[in-house]
Amino acid sequence: MKTIDLRSDTVTKPTDEMIQAIVKAHEKDRFGDDVIGEDEVVNELQEKAAQELGKEAALLVTSGTQGNVIALLAQTKRGDEIIVEEQSHTFMFEGGGMSVLGGLYPRPVKGVKGYILPETLRDAVRPDDAHYPQSGMVVVENTHNYAGGTVTTSQQVRELAEVAREYNLRIHCDGARLFNAAVALNVPAKKLVADVDSVQICLSKGLSAPVGSIVAGTEEFIHDAHRLRKKLGGGMRQAGIIAAPGIVALEKMINRLKDDHTNAKILYSHLSRIPDLEIEEPETNIIFVGLQNLDLDVPKLSQELKKRNILIYGEYGTRARFVTHRMISKEDILRTAEAVAEILVGKS
Ligand SMILES: Cc1ncc(COP(=O)(O)O)c(C=O)c1O
Repeated sequence: MKTIDLRSDTVTKPTDEMIQAIVKAHEKDRFGDDVIGEDEVVNELQEKAAQELGKEAALLVTSGTQGNVIALLAQTKRGDEIIVEEQSHTFMFEGGGMSVLGGLYPRPVKGVKGYILPETLRDAVRPDDAHYPQSGMVVVENTHNYAGGTVTTSQQVRELAEVAREYNLRIHCDGARLFNAAVALNVPAKKLVADVDSVQICLSKGLSAPVGSIVAGTEEFIHDAHRLRKKLGGGMRQAGIIAAPGIVALEKMINRLKDDHTNAKILYSHLSRIPDLEIEEPETNIIFVGLQNLDLDVPKLSQELKKRNILIYGEYGTRARFVTHRMISKEDILRTAEAVAEILVGKS
């Protein structure tokens, strides 16, 4: 029986075309030492990504976490306060890197479906008073993972950016799943980041590349980002091996994300019939369900699902996450829906 892996879109494996792209680049002798800028495939990916994101320049980095910390460190100074949504990835799941590596001070604020309202940002900005840290930047996460793959529109980004500019703050977009937002809104990704100073996108999530993220922004930002990447141990040699699948990811894998969104909606339509299950209609490929009104928690649900060859993350709590992606079919969704109903209805 097939194992249905709904833990994350990071479990997607590279496509055949991605592997062929590596081989083709090798046959054409296009790999080189990227630390000295000589890998043609990396250079092509960076140019393509900058174009796709509507920015002057882009840089390949090892991961989303590295890209975010580089963007924060490059555009702020030690002791600055970084305004983040309280459940954002940068705040919760990046090992406190901004503080450890950059001496930055996170200021978590409450968002609405992951979006920091402009008035919340205005209230959070510190006055010019020596008692306070200086506000340096605000981070917008699009889509917002922990809020349930929620989408921030270009208008919302603009309104937040206007307040950021008013107070001379930088604005960074953690766009690990930016293309999911773009596909859900049916707009080009560049529209969603037109008003931010920097953006990070992951090639290795729904887009299915095996490794890598991109940061993009002005030439000046990328110059500083390049220096920081080296300092953080992210200078790579024949990194075209990573970049070749990344190019396929940007060229071929964006439009198909709509299938993942459709599958998430199908899963929602089944799970929403289960009594006492807390659930909201997904906007993209992430669904959270709340088990607090049922007599079981996430570890128990994940154990029961695992017996049926269905995987979700399940260490703690009563909020379970299901993530759809390229390796999940409609049949897998129906099997999952049946299994969850079997487990939960028996318990309610
Ligand atoms: C919203 C968001 N930002 C950043 C990251 C970090 O990416 P990586 O795992 O490549 O470091 C993730 C990873 O799941 C994420 O969901």
